[in-house]
Amino acid sequence: MSPLFSKARLGPLALQNHLVMCPLTRDRATDNIPNELMAEYYAQRASVGLIITEGTSPSPNGLGYARIPGIFSAAQVAGWKRVVTGVHARGAKIFVQLMHCGRIAHPLNLPAGARILAPSAVAAAGEMYTDAQGMKPNATPIAMTESDIRATIEEYAQAAGNASTAGFDGIELHGANGYLLEQFFRPTSNRRADRYGGPIEGRARFVLDVADAAIAAIGKDRVGIRLSPFGVFNDMPAYADMEADYTYLAHQLNARGLLYIHLVDHSALGAPPVPESIRTMLRGLSHCALILSGGYNLERAERDLAAGKCDLVAVGRPILANPDLVQRWKTGAALNAPDPNTFYTPGAKGYTDYPALG
Ligand SMILES: Cc1cc2nc3c(=O)[nH]c(=O)nc-3n(C[C@H](O)[C@H](O)[C@H](O)COP(=O)(O)O)c2cc1C
Repeated sequence: MSPLFSKARLGPLALQNHLVMCPLTRDRATDNIPNELMAEYYAQRASVGLIITEGTSPSPNGLGYARIPGIFSAAQVAGWKRVVTGVHARGAKIFVQLMHCGRIAHPLNLPAGARILAPSAVAAAGEMYTDAQGMKPNATPIAMTESDIRATIEEYAQAAGNASTAGFDGIELHGANGYLLEQFFRPTSNRRADRYGGPIEGRARFVLDVADAAIAAIGKDRVGIRLSPFGVFNDMPAYADMEADYTYLAHQLNARGLLYIHLVDHSALGAPPVPESIRTMLRGLSHCALILSGGYNLERAERDLAAGKCDLVAVGRPILANPDLVQRWKTGAALNAPDPNTFYTPGAKGYTDYPALG
């Protein structure tokens, strides 16, 4: 029996197999509201065990990119409810990834009145696409006050509650890839001198406060987190204490009984490799399940599951391009290639029109 396609458990959840759809930002949410096209896209891919949605903002302030969805308004919750219903009807479970972009943002992408917030007023190198004016440099963010911090934590808690209202099975905190949670955690973006900065206990505090607030809102069995130790995406350079810092964070999350840690490994996309010692440390946690992702094909997924290296395997580009990836992998059918030109463009092309087997 293939380990990948056998039934799985994730905490209290029964999954139809061990395959997870990675969070994939696709920029189809016109006005930041999930729509029918998105419901169709997710339903097409619901033969996996667990879908983790694209990065979804808990706050108007967190909508750094064009056309990403939110989960803070009634219309957004109603839109997500339709997505969730379609996915559940096909047998998959679904978590929403809460992504607050923080300083990875441009004002042209944000609604009126929203503010670009970050731990410190340090702009990230790099550019951001805007529908109005094309590529623009990332904005210089406003350094958050303690009251901004409290309000933002409350937004995460509210978003977790909204996720529950929409019918999601849980939430994934986006603690990876240079967005707000990682901006607090890393010393290059966090230059604060208060209790949310400085030594690791300070830099980890915002992440842990957000985790605590989400747990208080919906329960520890429904909260996971994505982390990218050694990731450099979005101007997050390596630094000396990286491994010790992530070990501290992982143990703190484990002590809270968090459902899972989802490890990002973007070495298949040219990023530095994640040391084996990090995987071993995460695998050794007494409570948190481990989801591995990054560059997986069928053979590697089967091998790592059989070897007990993780609880579940997540895939991004293969399922983006193959709505019926489970069937294709089961039958040995050829795969569609992903088209990067349509990753973030509006409309159905390169989104819901990848061919499925008959
Ligand atoms: C188009 C695209 C959008 C992505 N959006 C997100 C996102 O919203 N949140 C996230 O955590 N990772 C995001 N990622 C990273 C993927 O989740 C995944 O880690 C990456 O694609 C590597 O896995 P793969 O080799 O199976 O594609 C994105 C990747 C791609 C290609």
